[in-house]
Amino acid sequence: MLKLKNIHKSFGNNEILKGVDLEVKKGDIIVILGPSGSGKTTLLRSINFLEKADQGTMDFGDIHTSLAKASKKDIYNVRKRIGYVFQNYNLFANKTALENVTEGLIIAHKYPKEKARVKALNALRQVGLEDRADFYPSQLSGGQQQRVGIARAIVSEPEVVLFDEPTSALDPELVGEVLNVMKKLARAGITMIVVTHEMSFAESAANEVIFMDEGVVVEKGTPKEIFSHPKDPRTEQFLRRIINVDYQYAI
Ligand SMILES: Nc1ncnc2c1ncn2[C@@H]1O[C@H](COP(=O)(O)OP(=O)(O)O)[C@@H](O)[C@H]1O
Ligand SMILES: [Mg+2]
Repeated sequence: MLKLKNIHKSFGNNEILKGVDLEVKKGDIIVILGPSGSGKTTLLRSINFLEKADQGTMDFGDIHTSLAKASKKDIYNVRKRIGYVFQNYNLFANKTALENVTEGLIIAHKYPKEKARVKALNALRQVGLEDRADFYPSQLSGGQQQRVGIARAIVSEPEVVLFDEPTSALDPELVGEVLNVMKKLARAGITMIVVTHEMSFAESAANEVIFMDEGVVVEKGTPKEIFSHPKDPRTEQFLRRIINVDYQYAI
């Protein structure tokens, strides 16, 4: 359904992505793990053309394009078919939850206002926030704001939703409500690529885990393969570190 090949991306002299491949099938839940600075955000942003890669190709349904030289039309169509959940929610502070969710439908998808409203309320219901539709971001907790961010990402029924560390800005007690919404979406069959270090989510929801380091995919496999039998010492070392962090939180 979505196939990316040989993505390269540099910032100045710094090569951040060094030939990353990614293949996504319908219904996949792919979790991407990796140390800070390994290029995870840059990878997600390149898929959605928030960042222009220097090299690489994309096959996405009927779209076949180079990432460096995509036409405006291809970029527009890819963005319409991919949802994106940001680490820091990226909501408009001066718009209500409902307005944040309808915005893209009205602007990019050309929905009439009333139809957009009905669809947005439905998306807010899916994340358990229908009763907060008229609240502004400042009146919502971080967990609720991120759930609005998720409603905005799914409202147009995209083919794939990208999540960039959706819970890493949240206080620990708010992480669960966001992960629960994500697990529900996963069970509903939504195709998802999720950058997260939440092992519980990866273990219960993912069918593939990818470990990235220094701009390359080091290894990938099922959650069990990666967590119980990592092949590469870098994966093993990274896992040991994040498990220790989790453990510290737990005690
Ligand atoms: N717009 C940018 N300009 C320059 N350097 C950047 C930019 N965005 C990211 N980088 C650098 O690219 C590297 C990888 O960043 P990122 O993709 O955010 O990693 P991760 O999400 O895995 O932590 C980092 O060293 C970061 O400083
Ligand atoms: Mg990042």
